[in-house]
Amino acid sequence: MCQVEHGWWAVSRHRDVVHVLKHPELFSSAGIRTGRDAAIDERLRGDQVFPESASVIANDPPVHTRLRKLIAGAFTPAAMSRLEPRVRALTVGLLDRILELPVFDVVADLAIPLPVIVIAERIGVDPSRLHDFKRWSDAVVDVVAPRSDSDVERVLAARRELRAYIEELIVSRRMSPGDDLVSDLCRAEGAEGVVSTDEVLSLVVTLLVAGNITTTNLISSAALVLAERPDVFSTIRRDPAVIPAFIEEVLRFDGPAKMLLRRATREVELSGVVIPEGAIVAALLAAANRDPEVFLEPDVFDVRRNTRSHVSFGFGIHFCVGAALSRLEGRVVFEEIARRLPPFSREPEPLAWIHALGLRGLAKLLVQFDRRLAA
Ligand code: HEM
Repeated sequence: MCQVEHGWWAVSRHRDVVHVLKHPELFSSAGIRTGRDAAIDERLRGDQVFPESASVIANDPPVHTRLRKLIAGAFTPAAMSRLEPRVRALTVGLLDRILELPVFDVVADLAIPLPVIVIAERIGVDPSRLHDFKRWSDAVVDVVAPRSDSDVERVLAARRELRAYIEELIVSRRMSPGDDLVSDLCRAEGAEGVVSTDEVLSLVVTLLVAGNITTTNLISSAALVLAERPDVFSTIRRDPAVIPAFIEEVLRFDGPAKMLLRRATREVELSGVVIPEGAIVAALLAAANRDPEVFLEPDVFDVRRNTRSHVSFGFGIHFCVGAALSRLEGRVVFEEIARRLPPFSREPEPLAWIHALGLRGLAKLLVQFDRRLAA
């Protein structure tokens, strides 16, 4: 552990990362200020899609517990089983189109559209607005990257559009509820009388955003492994039962979420180092996932390893609500890829990555089929 840029404290050992995430009373999710680009941060914070006080991610118990209960039921194993045929049908449709292309972009042709359509359908939003959802999601996540005045304006405009769209959706579902998440939240609002409009808005936006970029990055990172490792490609084609383990190893080896931030609620000692009250603590998930005390030869990609302790979905009370959904999407996509697509390899161009605070994923992944190896 050490103190790094911006006065943050970086925590990298697996056991320390777990300790931080397991103790919200010491390491809070609320009131986190990154201290980077203060002027831009202030402008962006002044015009949020929803207030921090209504966020499931940026609160501790009891607010967090109450908000989380409202959405957790939508992602149970039973709900995922009901969703599987739809995820598979969407995947098959996207792969049909891909099969006609000599070269395809895994990110644009598969990894972006699938999670966006799946979560948009669950939320009950109009599928013709899919491009807007992607743009709006990016605007919500991309909060602290340094940017020009015009970038800030673009982000703020996208956030206002998103807020107006979801507010309208809430009004319409209150009047005529359907079989979707927004309607469920509106029912809870009426039944329990404890959910504010800001909270419904925040939960809908959080699901829309959290369900998009992360799963996109998981699918493209997994495809990158296949494009670079024909041996792994032939393993999953020969033995599709290994695909869930393949997805878990991708999550460990190159998971979409690299870091989570917390705020020390008081002076606290961790592995012999004293962290002052109020300090921002960066729990480095990516480092924990390669801790040699937990994972033997951590820099080797191995679909047969035991990945049970990876922390790519976080740990403790904020553990990812959508983990089962992204695992379902990952499994179905690679089952269909193994069944339908010939092996593919990467076009020889440097990889381009998208960075947002704590997240990383491919901007583009051009691959071409190796039809000779398909037999
Ligand atoms: C591979 C894909 C995904 C990854 C790597 C991922 C990662 C994470 C991580 C690390 C957290 C913990 C945040 C924290 O402790 O501060 C989290 C929380 C969360 N995730 Fe995911 N996520 C993924 C997909 C999804 C999907 C598909 C959804 C929903 C549709 C979703 C919804 C959420 C929500 C609502 C939370 C907040 C939970 C809470 O604060 O109690 N995520 N996710």
